[in-house]
Amino acid sequence: MTVETLIPLAYLIAAVTFILGLKGLSSPTTAVMGNRIAAAGMLIAVIATFFAAEVRGGIPIILAGIVVGGVAGFAGARTVKMTAMPQMVALFNGAGGGAAALVSILEFSRQRDLGALEFGPTLATLLALVIGAVSFSGSAIAFGKLQGIITPKAFRYAGQQVVTAALVLAVGVLSFVLLAAGFTGAIAVEPMLIIAAITLLALVFGVALVLPIGGADMPVVISLLNAYTGLAVAMAGFTLGNQLLIVAGTLVGASGTILTRLMSKAMNRSLGNVLFGAFGAAPAGGAATAAATDDGRSIRSISAEDAAILLGYAQNVIVVPGYGLAVAQAQHSVRELADVLESKGINVRYAIHPVAGRMPGHMNVLLAEANVPYDKLFDMEQINPEFPRADVALVIGANDVTNPAARSNPGSPIYGMPILDVDKAQNVIVIKRSMKPGFAGIDNDLYLDPKTAMLFGDAKEAVGKVVQELKRAA
Ligand code: TAP
Repeated sequence: MTVETLIPLAYLIAAVTFILGLKGLSSPTTAVMGNRIAAAGMLIAVIATFFAAEVRGGIPIILAGIVVGGVAGFAGARTVKMTAMPQMVALFNGAGGGAAALVSILEFSRQRDLGALEFGPTLATLLALVIGAVSFSGSAIAFGKLQGIITPKAFRYAGQQVVTAALVLAVGVLSFVLLAAGFTGAIAVEPMLIIAAITLLALVFGVALVLPIGGADMPVVISLLNAYTGLAVAMAGFTLGNQLLIVAGTLVGASGTILTRLMSKAMNRSLGNVLFGAFGAAPAGGAATAAATDDGRSIRSISAEDAAILLGYAQNVIVVPGYGLAVAQAQHSVRELADVLESKGINVRYAIHPVAGRMPGHMNVLLAEANVPYDKLFDMEQINPEFPRADVALVIGANDVTNPAARSNPGSPIYGMPILDVDKAQNVIVIKRSMKPGFAGIDNDLYLDPKTAMLFGDAKEAVGKVVQELKRAA
């Protein structure tokens, strides 16, 4: 028995750790451990691969690659701000897709040199190349939009669908030429030229796919591109005959697809609408809706002092964090507010909507950063029945995820989107800077509800003032 015969066993162990890692990631309490388990599995897989016969000659260059990638990844992950996490994921994801595409090009050139363009391997190589290249350039655009290098606005132009369809058709035709050569054994054009053309077209397609999507929808797009990268890696696994790549790629592809579906579902939008709908860019009709529903109800604005009095007399408070809390970096102030309230014997819980903020788990991550205990965070399904018993629902920088129009107004763009039943609480305090709408670009009837009080201001400053008032009154 040689060391090489143990490689499949090492791969099997690694595959099991990836599954355990994913399982761990499903809860905040086990996520760190899950991440470590999967990372340990990856280390086992990398070490095992060094013993493969076909790898031995290239060990120095592989080590050089590991050093460059490892240092860049480590430095990036250590320094990235929590709010910049989506673009970081986009960057890493794009690198994965690009790697799968490069492997495909090299593998195709090897197959061609062997004079064997067989149908099966050629198909797998082509799929890895196309999907990987789309993921690479699409992720690069997503990164640019989130980082503000490219305008985050949805970029639309006349004949967009025709251009996209033409790109898909061209990739399809060129791929067919290569696959047909696998059957007939004859090809008129140098295959590597066709591969170069396919790569270029796939890269342009990735750009064309993501450019028309608005910046705020990027997390959904990144999740989708992540699934693409997984697929590309799985295909590269077929090309290279590497079982672990097939397993790991399939896991990434499946989990990315599930996450994309969950996010779309939580926004009550189809994936097609996210990709081609330019949400928010559509005429939102905010003003029109406001005028139509303006039946004499008015907005009640309160001071930090009034808010402190209302909170001070409560027994049950539910905090509803949203995107504005993240923008204002108010998580530590919110934690301080909860500490003060809890010291008065008030029960404070947090209601977490699945798409509150701009990335999956945005609110959980922010609140965890401020050491808010996990058992105080409640999912929408768990907390919604609790709102009628809450004395105060404190909405901080959240808007769409609290909009009752999603339940009651079939004409609203967010109709059907599951929301937090904030309007069922006894009192509602909303902290935001103005009456401007949120991501969906629509007015929120909650603000006209007689039991709602608006505390206008930046989330961090406003919460800070409430904390001061509470402390003063103590
Ligand atoms: P939004 O509906 O976007 O509302 C955020 C509110 O925060 C705004 O109305 C804004 O009002 C306020 N705000 C901004 N900066 C603030 C600051 N410094 N201090 C205080 N308030 C501030 O956010 P949400 O309720 O969290 O809903 C999320 C939206 O994003 C949903 O429509 C969802 O579909 C969408 N989305 C989410 C995701 C994920 S994965 N989370 C992905 C794609 C899209 P002012 O300007 O008046 O202050």
